[in-house]
Amino acid sequence: MKITIVGAGPAGLYFAILTKKANPEASITVYERNRIDDTFGFGVVFSDQTLDNFEVHDAETYDRITRAFAYWDDIEINFKGTKYRIGGNGFCGCSRRTLLLILYERARDLGVEVVFQKEIDDIEPLARESGLVVLADGVNSKFRERYSAYFQPTIDLRPNKFAWMGSTANLDAFTFAFEETEHGIFIAHAYQYEEGGSTWVFETDAGTFERAGLAALDEAQSARRMEGIFQRHLGGHPLLTNRSMWRNFPMIRNERWAKDNIVLLGDAKATAHFSIGAGTKLAMEDAISLHAALAGSATVAAALGVFEAGRREEVERTQHSADVSLVFFEHLSRFWNFEPIQFAFGVMTRAKAITYDNLRLRAPEFVDAVDRHFARELQACGFAVATDAPKPPMFQPFRLRDMILANRVVVSPMCMYSATDGIPGDWHLVHYGARAIGGAGLLFTEMTDVSAEGRISPGCTGLWNDEQEAAWKRIVDFVHSRSAAKFCLQIGHAGRKASTQFMWEEDAHPLKEGNWPIVSASPLPYLPESQVPREITRADMDAIIADFVQTTLRAERAGFDMIELHAAHGYLPASFISPLTNHRRDEYGGSLENRLRFPLEIFQRMREAWPKHKPMSVRISATDWADGGTTGDDSVLIAEAFAEAGVDLIDVSTGQTVTDARPVFGRMYQTPYSDQIRNEARVATMCVGNITTADQVNTILAAGRADLVALARPHLMDPNFTLRAAAWYGVSDVACPPQYLIGRDQLLRNSKRDREELEELKRKLKPKSHNNLAVR
Ligand SMILES: Cc1cc2nc3c(=O)[nH]c(=O)nc-3n(C[C@H](O)[C@H](O)[C@H](O)COP(=O)(O)OP(=O)(O)OC[C@H]3O[C@@H](n4cnc5c(N)ncnc54)[C@H](O)[C@@H]3O)c2cc1C
Ligand SMILES: Cc1cc2nc3c(=O)[nH]c(=O)nc-3n(C[C@H](O)[C@H](O)[C@H](O)COP(=O)(O)O)c2cc1C
Repeated sequence: MKITIVGAGPAGLYFAILTKKANPEASITVYERNRIDDTFGFGVVFSDQTLDNFEVHDAETYDRITRAFAYWDDIEINFKGTKYRIGGNGFCGCSRRTLLLILYERARDLGVEVVFQKEIDDIEPLARESGLVVLADGVNSKFRERYSAYFQPTIDLRPNKFAWMGSTANLDAFTFAFEETEHGIFIAHAYQYEEGGSTWVFETDAGTFERAGLAALDEAQSARRMEGIFQRHLGGHPLLTNRSMWRNFPMIRNERWAKDNIVLLGDAKATAHFSIGAGTKLAMEDAISLHAALAGSATVAAALGVFEAGRREEVERTQHSADVSLVFFEHLSRFWNFEPIQFAFGVMTRAKAITYDNLRLRAPEFVDAVDRHFARELQACGFAVATDAPKPPMFQPFRLRDMILANRVVVSPMCMYSATDGIPGDWHLVHYGARAIGGAGLLFTEMTDVSAEGRISPGCTGLWNDEQEAAWKRIVDFVHSRSAAKFCLQIGHAGRKASTQFMWEEDAHPLKEGNWPIVSASPLPYLPESQVPREITRADMDAIIADFVQTTLRAERAGFDMIELHAAHGYLPASFISPLTNHRRDEYGGSLENRLRFPLEIFQRMREAWPKHKPMSVRISATDWADGGTTGDDSVLIAEAFAEAGVDLIDVSTGQTVTDARPVFGRMYQTPYSDQIRNEARVATMCVGNITTADQVNTILAAGRADLVALARPHLMDPNFTLRAAAWYGVSDVACPPQYLIGRDQLLRNSKRDREELEELKRKLKPKSHNNLAVR
């Protein structure tokens, strides 16, 4: 078969090597517009895991690559004059020029024809005469653009500016250095790739770039400027340039990867931000996948289908990691006031792959220091907590006004659809009782409504009459007498989402019979088949505020420790906040200030009715995940407005405002909004959403992304989530009912053994170190 490849970068050359090695009879030609050693950039990085992969696929190039590599195990974080080193990160760096030379020579020796200084302008004739055309033509791929109607690329140009430079400085760790100047913050991502050669990627935000006047400087002048800023890290070594222009990183994605017998590979197809060092790795692993698909398929068309189906998930996962990672560097000012140890933990865990537990495995003394810092901050706030061998963050106390939580785990509010006439019954006693004795520090009730009309469904709980108050008091008394958990009543009004079926029926659809009239900010039905709500008047607002106040007073009489105003998920208060559901033309619609007016008034009146020493939270949808809806930036302003009105905690949820929203789900997917609100609005937050493990809870807390962590669905299946986690970490003082102590003690013993076994297994599964072959 004849194969044509455009671009002699890592993707094109490695694919040529693997394919020619497997099919010596194949005729493979690579066209490259530059000369052999005409490359840009300095070094490239690979992890131990990636090197494992290269070793399996072509031992020859692997040997040559590893002989030419610099190897390091540590990541070093330099922040405000402090240095943290975290080991166990096996990585290699290699000169990009050397890598390309190795790949070229191997390809040539195998019989691949590599034609340099040949720019391809038209691939149609090549596609006609070849069985396969591989477009490995890099980040600015002109063919991706020419066939954009087919490939449907999206290019997300990130706001930060970056420039790739080199230096003669030696480094013995992957180094992140952060420097503050009079213009703003600069970051260096730096690593050694050969003796006397290191890569330095500088990054800064657009404002700092502008203020520093970098746009007016040429490459050499920029280099001198960076030398000045990073002099203490460069140790007197100069910076070198090679097409080191400042640019914005393009996150590239393509809806389709293949067109007939033409396929995109490497950067042309998908990029990953340099902060996770995966660009060249992705390109070469693409080559491995495409080669494997071709080898295992009967036709080229089938191979390209297999390639895309098999590879897309991995590429998107890496891109997602890169996306999450780059956000950290784009919002450094959020964390600039952090203590260096917490800042360093944030850098390490920014992309979700590295967590509290797996860091503990490789750098226990670093995680010990993180725990000690967390405990010391509490000690400074008056808590008598141990600081020499402190408990993990999730088991540390937290104070909101006079309410002290024994730990940071929260049972998130969850509708049970099991009440009659709004009265919580035996189901609720057992449900809340079980979760309270399961060890969580704070327990939320389901959304409990201020009136019969405000219920989502006929099965929702309410608190507008004496019978309901007495029923809630029975449950509150149980929680207080049998557990150490504090209990928060979530108070709401369903607005346009009222009068609907249970979650396990046709969720959010109107009742089959017995619907009641509904109200909202504007007369917009939730679903096409939903009732059209009546737009509420000022007189309605007065009545509804009075309902919220009555429920607040009853909550106090029932003995709740805390209350929450539910202003999320498209319910009545939320329907005012989102511009998608609020089309009013009066002083309650239009600007964010206007849209917040009614929810804030409800909150203020509840706050006045609620005892001063007891805390209040507000749940908000920090983004609507929909065009024209609220965004993370809006949510900071919303949080600030509630904080001004006396809120103690923002409960950060997202979405459920409109049906055509496009949420980006994933592990801990709402936590970035909690992070943004906590560290920009400087208000305590609780995060929630696909947080399923104690490891994630600790990671979020230790990195300062939230103050409390709520779990909903995990608590449905495991009321004892907190007690189990305590046993796992060997924490023996989480409140446990005396009736259960003997079981808890057994769990403590077994968990210790299970944990040791798992950690041993993880150590064994760690990719081998390739250091033995490296020159350094
Ligand atoms: C300026 C710059 C500096 C970089 N520095 C580094 C670094 O130091 N370390 C690192 O890890 N990553 C670096 N990268 C990223 C890294 O180069 C890529 O992630 C990786 O090289 C992707 O491999 P690839 O084979 O897909 O594309 P590339 O390596 O970009 O290769 C594409 C090749 O196609 C050729 N080409 C394009 N169009 C045509 C055409 N029409 N006809 C013929 N040939 C064509 C190009 O000349 C190029 O050689 C840098 C990127 C840029 C843009
Ligand atoms: C069965 C169920 C009922 C829920 N009811 C409520 C509710 O009454 N009030 C509320 O604010 N959120 C409610 N939620 C949302 C959860 O509190 C939580 O924000 C969401 O499930 C994401 O968390 P998770 O991934 O841990 O489940 C409910 C979720 C579930 C699964």
